[in-house]
Amino acid sequence: MEINKFIPLASPDINQQDIDCVAAVLRSGMLVQGVNVLALEKSFNEFNKSKNAIAVSNGTATLHLALLALGIGKGDEVIVPAFSYVATANVVEMVGATCVFVDIDIDTFNIDVTKIEALITSKTKAIIPVHEFGLACDIEVIMQIATKHNLYVIEDAACALGAMQNGKHAGTFGNLGSFSLHPRKSITSGEGGVLLTADDSLAKKLRQLRNHGIEMQEGQMHFVDAGLNYRMTDFQAALANSQMQRLAQIIAYKQELAEVYLSEIKNENIVLPSVPSDRNHTWQTFHILINEEKNQASAIAALKENNIGANHGAQCIPATTYYKAKYQLDSEQQFPIAYRAFTKGIAIPIYEKLTKDIIKQISNTVNKL
Ligand SMILES: Cc1ncc(COP(=O)(O)O)c(C=O)c1O
Repeated sequence: MEINKFIPLASPDINQQDIDCVAAVLRSGMLVQGVNVLALEKSFNEFNKSKNAIAVSNGTATLHLALLALGIGKGDEVIVPAFSYVATANVVEMVGATCVFVDIDIDTFNIDVTKIEALITSKTKAIIPVHEFGLACDIEVIMQIATKHNLYVIEDAACALGAMQNGKHAGTFGNLGSFSLHPRKSITSGEGGVLLTADDSLAKKLRQLRNHGIEMQEGQMHFVDAGLNYRMTDFQAALANSQMQRLAQIIAYKQELAEVYLSEIKNENIVLPSVPSDRNHTWQTFHILINEEKNQASAIAALKENNIGANHGAQCIPATTYYKAKYQLDSEQQFPIAYRAFTKGIAIPIYEKLTKDIIKQISNTVNKL
């Protein structure tokens, strides 16, 4: 059967309750950070079993604030995976520090933990591991490396709300965990982000940095630090709060959809994603790899001709224009796996509005690639 209506790669599920919750805040006239932001932070802590949650304007602001709060800047090196969305590296550039790229593991598309230690120098201050596509990276091993070398860990869990390793939530292992609530994530606030930390003084610093360096003392504003305005609006938080109520359901349903792909896609030209036994996958993205001899652009075009939205999953960051010019790295040689994922990886639709039948139909088309 042919798919007769275009299926976008991603599409947020906004229901009537979501709309009503946002409308109620709009009607109240209390639009900036307020009770709904506080409620979102509370529900993030409850869901992730974390101590402090700080909601901000997006999942790039979270990472930027994390680096600022930890005092990372000029002269410092930060280890980042070579394959991620550019935001992971951009924030390092924005604080004046240097990115040190690490190749990834082809089975999980996550940072290859065996390649990290060789890159640590006296200038290394932090690791930003990414839980790519909704699958936790081997964060337990990363924490061991970080502890041994006295490094900060900022987990980029932008895509991985609900992902776990051995039952512990991604974003709660490191000094800081960073989440995005962009519409391509499991739940959304439009634009939005949340930071988690077990460290109370870091949480206090982050709250100041997101709000012009303000600290409230006895009902008075004191400008105790230089800061930014990275606040989330209350109507954005209301949308995320409403969606948070069905997060577990959304993840469970996406896992069912992924199972359909995993059983229905049978094509020797395609490698399917795999999930290590100590982790769960939340399937923010379903990312397939085509064989070396296949052309990515043609495969994406073929899917689109069949009404299926598809695209690259993420970038090989050192191969993108800015990073190539600045770092002069030969990505194909130095990060062969990230380069392969970038040039042969394809993200295909997976979200709660899709039926299992549609997923089967997409699989049929993928089987012809
Ligand atoms: C791994 C990763 N980090 C950071 C971000 C940035 O998040 P945002 O779009 O909310 O700024 C994204 C966004 O897709 C991402 O995938």
